[in-house]
Amino acid sequence: MQKIAAGNWKMNGISTSLSEISLLAQRHSTSDVEILICPPVTLLGNACSLPGSVAIGAQNCHISRSGAYTGEISAQMIAELGAKYVIIGHSERRSNNGETDYIVQKKMMSAQQEGLTPIVCIGETLRQRQNSQTLSAIKTQLDGSLSSEAAKSPIVIAYEPVWAIGTGHVPSMSEIAQVHEFCRKQLKRRFGDLAVNIPLLYGGSVKGSNAAEIFALQNVNGALVGGASLKAEDFSQIILALEDA
Ligand code: PGA
Repeated sequence: MQKIAAGNWKMNGISTSLSEISLLAQRHSTSDVEILICPPVTLLGNACSLPGSVAIGAQNCHISRSGAYTGEISAQMIAELGAKYVIIGHSERRSNNGETDYIVQKKMMSAQQEGLTPIVCIGETLRQRQNSQTLSAIKTQLDGSLSSEAAKSPIVIAYEPVWAIGTGHVPSMSEIAQVHEFCRKQLKRRFGDLAVNIPLLYGGSVKGSNAAEIFALQNVNGALVGGASLKAEDFSQIILALEDA
Protein backbone atom coordinates (compact mmCIF):
# COMPACT_ATOMS: atom_id res chain seq x y z
CA MET A 1 0.00 0.00 0.00
CA GLN A 2 1.34 3.43 -0.94
CA LYS A 3 1.90 5.60 2.14
CA ILE A 4 0.88 9.22 1.60
CA ALA A 5 1.73 12.39 3.54
CA ALA A 6 -0.53 15.06 2.07
CA GLY A 7 -0.36 18.73 3.03
CA ASN A 8 -3.38 20.97 2.51
CA TRP A 9 -2.24 24.56 2.60
CA LYS A 10 -5.81 25.90 2.35
CA MET A 11 -5.79 29.69 1.70
CA ASN A 12 -2.20 30.10 2.86
CA GLY A 13 0.98 30.74 0.95
CA ILE A 14 2.45 33.24 -1.49
CA SER A 15 5.35 32.72 -3.86
CA THR A 16 8.00 32.75 -1.11
CA SER A 17 6.27 29.70 0.40
CA LEU A 18 7.38 27.57 -2.56
CA SER A 19 10.78 27.21 -0.84
CA GLU A 20 9.06 24.97 1.75
CA ILE A 21 8.29 22.48 -1.03
CA SER A 22 11.89 22.60 -2.25
CA LEU A 23 13.12 21.93 1.29
CA LEU A 24 10.84 18.89 1.59
CA ALA A 25 12.10 17.58 -1.74
CA GLN A 26 15.71 17.90 -0.57
CA ARG A 27 15.13 16.31 2.83
CA HIS A 28 13.11 13.36 1.61
CA SER A 29 14.65 12.71 -1.79
CA THR A 30 14.76 8.95 -1.28
CA SER A 31 11.52 8.54 0.65
CA ASP A 32 9.14 5.62 0.08
CA VAL A 33 6.32 7.95 1.18
CA GLU A 34 4.35 9.85 -1.46
CA ILE A 35 4.79 13.44 -0.30
CA LEU A 36 2.06 15.70 -1.60
CA ILE A 37 1.47 19.43 -1.20
CA CYS A 38 -1.82 21.05 -2.20
CA PRO A 39 -1.05 24.78 -2.34
CA PRO A 40 -3.56 27.47 -3.26
CA VAL A 41 -4.33 27.54 -6.97
CA THR A 42 -2.22 30.69 -7.48
CA LEU A 43 0.91 28.64 -6.73
CA LEU A 44 -0.10 25.47 -8.53
CA GLY A 45 1.74 26.09 -11.81
CA ASN A 46 4.99 27.16 -10.18
CA ALA A 47 4.79 24.34 -7.62
CA CYS A 48 4.43 21.81 -10.44
CA SER A 49 7.55 23.20 -12.12
CA LEU A 50 9.79 22.73 -9.07
CA PRO A 51 12.44 20.00 -9.32
CA GLY A 52 12.18 17.04 -6.95
CA SER A 53 9.70 14.33 -6.21
CA VAL A 54 7.10 16.18 -4.14
CA ALA A 55 3.73 15.61 -5.81
CA ILE A 56 1.41 18.58 -6.23
CA GLY A 57 -2.35 18.69 -5.95
CA ALA A 58 -5.22 21.17 -6.02
CA GLN A 59 -7.73 21.72 -3.21
CA ASN A 60 -10.88 21.62 -5.34
CA CYS A 61 -12.11 21.38 -8.92
CA HIS A 62 -15.34 22.04 -10.77
CA ILE A 63 -17.64 19.25 -11.94
CA SER A 64 -17.44 20.42 -15.57
CA ARG A 65 -14.51 20.43 -17.97
CA SER A 66 -15.12 23.99 -19.15
CA GLY A 67 -17.93 26.48 -19.45
CA ALA A 68 -19.51 29.64 -18.11
CA TYR A 69 -18.50 29.19 -14.46
CA THR A 70 -16.85 32.43 -13.38
CA GLY A 71 -14.02 31.93 -10.93
CA GLU A 72 -13.98 28.15 -11.18
CA ILE A 73 -11.13 25.80 -12.16
CA SER A 74 -11.64 22.47 -13.92
CA ALA A 75 -9.84 19.17 -13.41
CA GLN A 76 -8.55 19.43 -16.98
CA MET A 77 -6.85 22.75 -16.15
CA ILE A 78 -5.31 21.31 -13.00
CA ALA A 79 -4.05 18.22 -14.83
CA GLU A 80 -2.54 20.34 -17.60
CA LEU A 81 -0.30 22.06 -15.06
CA GLY A 82 1.17 18.73 -14.05
CA ALA A 83 -0.66 18.26 -10.77
CA LYS A 84 -1.36 14.68 -9.75
CA TYR A 85 -4.04 14.96 -7.06
CA VAL A 86 -7.05 17.03 -6.12
CA ILE A 87 -8.73 17.19 -2.71
CA ILE A 88 -12.48 16.77 -3.10
CA GLY A 89 -15.21 17.42 -0.55
CA HIS A 90 -13.07 18.81 2.26
CA SER A 91 -15.37 19.60 5.19
CA GLU A 92 -14.66 23.32 4.78
CA ARG A 93 -16.01 23.13 1.24
CA ARG A 94 -18.92 20.96 2.31
CA SER A 95 -19.93 23.49 4.98
CA ASN A 96 -18.85 26.81 3.43
CA ASN A 97 -19.72 26.06 -0.19
CA GLY A 98 -22.67 23.73 0.20
CA GLU A 99 -20.99 20.73 -1.40
CA THR A 100 -23.24 17.71 -1.08
CA ASP A 101 -22.22 14.07 -1.49
CA TYR A 102 -23.73 14.25 -4.98
CA ILE A 103 -21.51 17.20 -5.97
CA VAL A 104 -18.50 15.52 -4.39
CA GLN A 105 -19.18 12.42 -6.49
CA LYS A 106 -19.43 14.51 -9.69
CA LYS A 107 -16.15 16.25 -8.87
CA MET A 108 -14.48 12.94 -8.09
CA MET A 109 -15.55 11.56 -11.46
CA SER A 110 -14.36 14.66 -13.26
CA ALA A 111 -10.95 14.38 -11.55
CA GLN A 112 -10.53 10.74 -12.51
CA GLN A 113 -11.55 11.45 -16.10
CA GLU A 114 -8.61 13.85 -16.35
CA GLY A 115 -6.19 11.40 -14.81
CA LEU A 116 -6.04 13.12 -11.42
CA THR A 117 -6.23 11.11 -8.20
CA PRO A 118 -9.09 12.48 -6.08
CA ILE A 119 -8.63 12.59 -2.31
CA VAL A 120 -12.23 12.31 -1.18
CA CYS A 121 -12.80 13.68 2.33
CA ILE A 122 -15.41 12.36 4.74
CA GLY A 123 -15.95 12.84 8.45
CA GLU A 124 -18.56 13.25 11.13
CA THR A 125 -19.50 16.47 12.93
CA LEU A 126 -19.21 16.79 16.70
CA ARG A 127 -22.98 16.47 17.03
CA GLN A 128 -22.97 13.24 15.01
CA ARG A 129 -20.18 11.83 17.17
CA GLN A 130 -22.00 12.80 20.38
CA ASN A 131 -25.20 11.16 19.09
CA SER A 132 -23.37 7.92 18.23
CA GLN A 133 -23.99 8.56 14.53
CA THR A 134 -20.36 8.49 13.43
CA LEU A 135 -20.45 5.24 11.47
CA SER A 136 -23.81 5.93 9.86
CA ALA A 137 -22.59 9.39 8.78
CA ILE A 138 -19.43 7.85 7.34
CA LYS A 139 -21.45 5.21 5.49
CA THR A 140 -23.76 7.81 3.98
CA GLN A 141 -20.83 9.94 2.85
CA LEU A 142 -18.90 7.02 1.40
CA ASP A 143 -21.95 5.72 -0.46
CA GLY A 144 -22.90 9.13 -1.79
CA SER A 145 -19.49 10.56 -2.58
CA LEU A 146 -18.07 7.68 -4.63
CA SER A 147 -19.26 6.63 -8.08
CA SER A 148 -19.78 2.95 -8.86
CA GLU A 149 -16.56 3.04 -10.95
CA ALA A 150 -14.54 4.95 -8.34
CA ALA A 151 -12.17 2.10 -7.45
CA LYS A 152 -11.24 1.34 -11.07
CA SER A 153 -8.91 4.37 -11.16
CA PRO A 154 -6.60 5.65 -8.44
CA ILE A 155 -8.46 7.23 -5.53
CA VAL A 156 -7.66 8.10 -1.91
CA ILE A 157 -10.07 8.48 1.01
CA ALA A 158 -9.34 10.89 3.87
CA TYR A 159 -11.20 10.44 7.15
CA GLU A 160 -11.30 13.82 8.85
CA PRO A 161 -13.62 14.28 11.84
CA VAL A 162 -14.92 17.83 11.35
CA TRP A 163 -14.42 18.62 15.03
CA ALA A 164 -10.75 17.61 14.87
CA ILE A 165 -9.80 19.94 12.00
CA GLY A 166 -7.69 22.85 13.15
CA THR A 167 -8.79 22.43 16.77
CA GLY A 168 -5.95 20.47 18.36
CA HIS A 169 -8.50 17.81 19.35
CA VAL A 170 -7.83 14.31 18.06
CA PRO A 171 -10.07 11.26 18.49
CA SER A 172 -8.70 8.43 20.61
CA MET A 173 -6.56 5.93 18.76
CA SER A 174 -9.27 3.30 19.09
CA GLU A 175 -11.82 5.69 17.61
CA ILE A 176 -9.59 6.35 14.60
CA ALA A 177 -8.90 2.63 14.21
CA GLN A 178 -12.61 1.84 14.38
CA VAL A 179 -13.55 4.30 11.63
CA HIS A 180 -10.70 3.25 9.37
CA GLU A 181 -11.61 -0.41 9.72
CA PHE A 182 -15.23 0.48 9.00
CA CYS A 183 -14.19 2.42 5.88
CA ARG A 184 -12.13 -0.51 4.61
CA LYS A 185 -15.05 -2.88 5.14
CA GLN A 186 -17.50 -0.55 3.39
CA LEU A 187 -15.13 -0.14 0.46
CA LYS A 188 -14.67 -3.92 0.21
CA ARG A 189 -18.41 -4.47 0.31
CA ARG A 190 -18.84 -2.08 -2.57
CA PHE A 191 -15.71 -2.56 -4.67
CA GLY A 192 -14.47 -6.04 -3.74
CA ASP A 193 -10.76 -6.71 -4.20
CA LEU A 194 -10.14 -3.27 -5.70
CA ALA A 195 -10.79 -1.78 -2.27
CA VAL A 196 -7.63 -3.31 -0.84
CA ASN A 197 -5.44 -0.79 -2.68
CA ILE A 198 -7.29 2.38 -1.71
CA PRO A 199 -5.13 4.40 0.70
CA LEU A 200 -7.01 5.63 3.79
CA LEU A 201 -5.64 8.83 5.29
CA TYR A 202 -6.44 10.28 8.69
CA GLY A 203 -6.76 14.06 8.99
CA GLY A 204 -7.48 16.48 11.81
CA SER A 205 -4.80 18.08 14.03
CA VAL A 206 -2.03 15.70 12.97
CA LYS A 207 1.33 16.93 14.29
CA GLY A 208 4.84 15.65 14.68
CA SER A 209 4.03 14.74 18.28
CA ASN A 210 1.03 12.49 17.54
CA ALA A 211 1.87 11.19 14.06
CA ALA A 212 3.70 8.02 15.07
CA GLU A 213 0.87 6.60 17.18
CA ILE A 214 -1.68 7.40 14.45
CA PHE A 215 0.45 5.75 11.75
CA ALA A 216 0.87 2.65 13.90
CA LEU A 217 -2.86 1.93 13.53
CA GLN A 218 -4.08 -0.65 11.07
CA ASN A 219 -5.70 0.74 7.94
CA VAL A 220 -4.11 4.15 8.41
CA ASN A 221 -2.00 4.64 5.30
CA GLY A 222 -1.01 8.25 5.84
CA ALA A 223 -2.35 11.66 6.75
CA LEU A 224 -3.97 14.76 5.32
CA VAL A 225 -2.42 17.63 7.22
CA GLY A 226 -3.44 21.28 7.38
CA GLY A 227 -1.62 23.60 9.77
CA ALA A 228 1.41 21.37 10.32
CA SER A 229 2.10 21.15 6.57
CA LEU A 230 2.81 24.85 6.06
CA LYS A 231 6.41 24.69 7.24
CA ALA A 232 8.78 22.04 5.92
CA GLU A 233 10.29 21.74 9.39
CA ASP A 234 6.94 20.64 10.90
CA PHE A 235 5.72 18.53 7.99
CA SER A 236 9.04 16.74 7.83
CA GLN A 237 8.49 15.30 11.32
CA ILE A 238 5.20 13.81 10.16
CA ILE A 239 6.83 12.40 7.02
CA LEU A 240 9.61 10.86 9.11
CA ALA A 241 7.02 9.17 11.34
CA LEU A 242 5.28 7.76 8.26
CA GLU A 243 8.58 6.57 6.79
CA ASP A 244 9.20 4.65 10.04
CA ALA A 245 5.67 3.21 10.24
P1 PGA B 1 -5.44 20.46 10.44
O1 PGA B 1 -6.31 20.39 9.08
O2 PGA B 1 -4.29 19.50 10.25
O3 PGA B 1 -4.99 21.90 10.50
O4 PGA B 1 -6.33 20.06 11.53
C1 PGA B 1 -6.55 19.17 8.45
C2 PGA B 1 -7.33 19.38 7.19
O5 PGA B 1 -8.16 20.29 7.14
O6 PGA B 1 -7.13 18.64 6.21
